Amino acid sequence: MSLKGQDFIDLRHLTASDLDNLIALAAKIKAGDIDVSDALSGKTFGLLFSIASTRTRLSFQVAVRQMGGHAEYLNADQLQLVNHESLTDTGQVMSRFLDGIIVRMYNMKNYGEGRSALQTLADNASIPVLNALDDKDHPCQVIADLLTMREKFGPGFKKKKLVFSWGYTERQKSLGVPHSMMVAGSLLGMNMVFAYPEGFDLDEEYIRFTQKMAAESKASISFTNDLMEATEGADVIYVKSWKAINMSVEDDLAARRRVQDDWRISNKHFERANKDAIYMDCLPVIRGEQTLAEVVDGPRSVIYDEAENRLHAQKAILHSIYAPVPVHQPS
Ligand code: CP
Repeated sequence: MSLKGQDFIDLRHLTASDLDNLIALAAKIKAGDIDVSDALSGKTFGLLFSIASTRTRLSFQVAVRQMGGHAEYLNADQLQLVNHESLTDTGQVMSRFLDGIIVRMYNMKNYGEGRSALQTLADNASIPVLNALDDKDHPCQVIADLLTMREKFGPGFKKKKLVFSWGYTERQKSLGVPHSMMVAGSLLGMNMVFAYPEGFDLDEEYIRFTQKMAAESKASISFTNDLMEATEGADVIYVKSWKAINMSVEDDLAARRRVQDDWRISNKHFERANKDAIYMDCLPVIRGEQTLAEVVDGPRSVIYDEAENRLHAQKAILHSIYAPVPVHQPS
C-alpha cells in the first residue's frame, strides 16, 4: 500500500511491507544513502500540540527543516479551539494554509477525549494528519524503535525477544506506545511479551487485531503480570514512562510506591536477560521510578540512539507521504 497523501494515525492501517519499507528508508536516510534535503521544498506543516513534548516536537521540526520545508508550532491552547471553535472548522481552515498537520492534543475535553478529536480533525482536513501521540497509538515512536532494534541486532531483529513493560499509568490514556508496538510486532511476526501489573491491560480491540495478524505472521505475542519471569532470556527490555493517574498527589505517590518494588527495572532483570540484551525507553525517564539509574545510564542502555532515531523515522514517514520512492530491501 502507498502511504502517499495518506494520514498517519494508526499502524493498523499499514501492512507489514509498509513497516519494512519505512524502517529500511529511515536507515538509508540516516546513512546518507538517499538525499531528502528537498523532499518537502515549499511545504508548510502545523504542529498542533496541547501536551508537552520534547522528542516528537523537535524531531518533526528538525526533520521538516532538513527536508526543505517549514514547520510552525501551534499551541492548541492559544488557538480559537479554546473558545470552542469546532475541529471541523479548524481542520478545514488549516487545510487552506498548510500541507500537513502533526497533532498531539488528546486531552482537550471540549472535543471528546482521546482519538475522537484527532479523527474529527483528520476527517475534516483535506491534507494528511499525522499522529504525534494520542491515547491509542504512538506510531512515529515505534518506527524509530524498530529502526533502533534493527541497528542493534541486524536483520534478525524480528526474532529477538522484546519484553515491554509499564508499572503504573492511566490505562485509558497512556498506552499508545505499547499498542503501536504490539500492532507492529503482530504485522512483522515478532516475539513480544507485555508485562504489567494487574488492572493495567491493553485495549481489547487492539489485542483482538494483533491476535488475528499474529496468526498470519506467526508472531508470538503474550501477556503476563510477572515481570521477573518475563525478562528470562529477553533481548530487549523496553519500559514506557509511568504517568500520573487522576487522583490526589498523596494517593498518586502511594500507588506508585506500591508497584515500584515489583515493576521498576534494575540490573536484577538484566541478570536474567540474554548477555547482549538492551534497555529501551521511549523517554522521558525519571531515574528511580520506572527504572534505576544503574540501567538507564548503564552499558545496556540505548536510549539516546533511540531518541535520535525519532529524527530519521520522521523523515522516512514524511518522505513516504509526500515524496515516495520505492524501497525494495526488506528490513
Ligand atoms: N517519546 C516521546 O514521545 O517523547 P516526547 O513526549 O518528549 O515527545
